[in-house]
Amino acid sequence: MAKTPSFSCNACGAVHNKWSGRCDACGAWNSIVEDVPISTGPTAQSLGAKKGRRIALSDLAGEEAPPPRKASGIGELDRVLGGGLVPASAILVGGDPGIGKSTLLLQAAASFARAGLSAVYVSGEEATAQVRMRAQRLELTDAPVRLAAETNLRDILTMLEAEKPDVAIIDSIQTMWSDQVSSAPGSVSQVRAAAHELTTFAKRHGVAVILVGHVTKDGQIAGPRVVEHMVDTVLYFEGERGHQFRILRAVKNRFGPADEIGVFEMTGEGLAEVTNPSALFLSDREDPAPGSVVFAGIEGTRPVLCEFQALVAPTPHSQPRRSTVGWDGGRLAMILAVLEARCAVPFAGMDVYLNVAGGLRVSEPAADLAVAMALLSAREDIALPPQSVVFGEISLSGALRPVSQTENRLKEAQKLGFTAAIAPERSKMTTTAGLAMRQYRDLTGLVGDMFGAG
Ligand code: TYD
Ligand code: MG
Repeated sequence: MAKTPSFSCNACGAVHNKWSGRCDACGAWNSIVEDVPISTGPTAQSLGAKKGRRIALSDLAGEEAPPPRKASGIGELDRVLGGGLVPASAILVGGDPGIGKSTLLLQAAASFARAGLSAVYVSGEEATAQVRMRAQRLELTDAPVRLAAETNLRDILTMLEAEKPDVAIIDSIQTMWSDQVSSAPGSVSQVRAAAHELTTFAKRHGVAVILVGHVTKDGQIAGPRVVEHMVDTVLYFEGERGHQFRILRAVKNRFGPADEIGVFEMTGEGLAEVTNPSALFLSDREDPAPGSVVFAGIEGTRPVLCEFQALVAPTPHSQPRRSTVGWDGGRLAMILAVLEARCAVPFAGMDVYLNVAGGLRVSEPAADLAVAMALLSAREDIALPPQSVVFGEISLSGALRPVSQTENRLKEAQKLGFTAAIAPERSKMTTTAGLAMRQYRDLTGLVGDMFGAG
């Protein structure tokens, strides 16, 4: 029986049953290619005839030691990995081109090597001389990292099998090509095949494999999402081009908490760790201005303070603009609707801009109240009381909901010199860390109290 060909989109990974010039799932042009089967060995036809090996079953109960971890010595990286590198695990590090992935991983390789692990760095994008030059600039040349510039997957696997390193870095997965698959490097089939072979290799030989993956404009690892399912840990390296801050974020981790972030600063000598992100994100803050609110947030296991800035201005357009950086646009629309419907504060006919300063991206609903207060403060042109932080979730009814880890938020604010907090009523805490608390049951009460409206 001849197998009908299938096609997939290089941009989003959607599967189609025929070729076309444009992917109707993501709208990309000229991105659909035919899938080529990875294996040329026995196929499904022969599966029924051949009997499988009987697998031994085991119980749920049983002593299992936690995975031994190897710390790199780069604290922010180890934190995001959940305490260090787990042997035989596969890790994907995604990010925009030029954000600093190669820099980070070369520094990580050197750090692992200095900590006594054997590390191999394979670059498919740069020549050995280029990587050496970078290493010189980063002052890493003393670290015993083994280097190769290669894209042929079969050769790389043979080398890794002979070398048996503790950690292998593959930069990047899009440049690798397997001779098992006939399509071009970077295509879905190639990326999928290379990721599959490398992750299988990691498990079989106990080598921790770190894959670098470039991200498309809409924020997905170029090629298939399937790579994310294959690996144990997915980290995203993100940041604004104009800013020197870089955030390494765990979005999936089989061996530790997801949502954890590590903060770095890109300097002339490579990436430097930022151990106190709150101080960094607030460092450029001017005196309290209308529209500026400090949010006491939690990123992973750690409290992080950051500034929300809003600008509200009459619009010259028939359709007012709603623009956000670092915060979800849908959530902004919801908060605007609550302010209009529950507090009678209209935003019709006004452009609204919202920005999280410093290039941080906040996804916690606990920032709802900070967003609402930034909007109100900008609209009414009234600055918030100085030295106060804000947190709380807003429901559609306009009620304020308590959020988790109230005490950690307050303690961090107190550490950075804040003296007051605006929070929901019934927030769980045994101490206010010395902060003056202003607590509200709903948004209407707060609006009436602080902005004299509502
Ligand atoms: P790179 O690690 O090559 O990015 P990626 O691998 O994600 O594509 O980073 C390249 C950028 O980083 C480049 O614009 C220059 C900058 N950079 C520094 O600012 N300082 C440094 O020490 C290094 C090595 C790079
Ligand atoms: Mg690179």
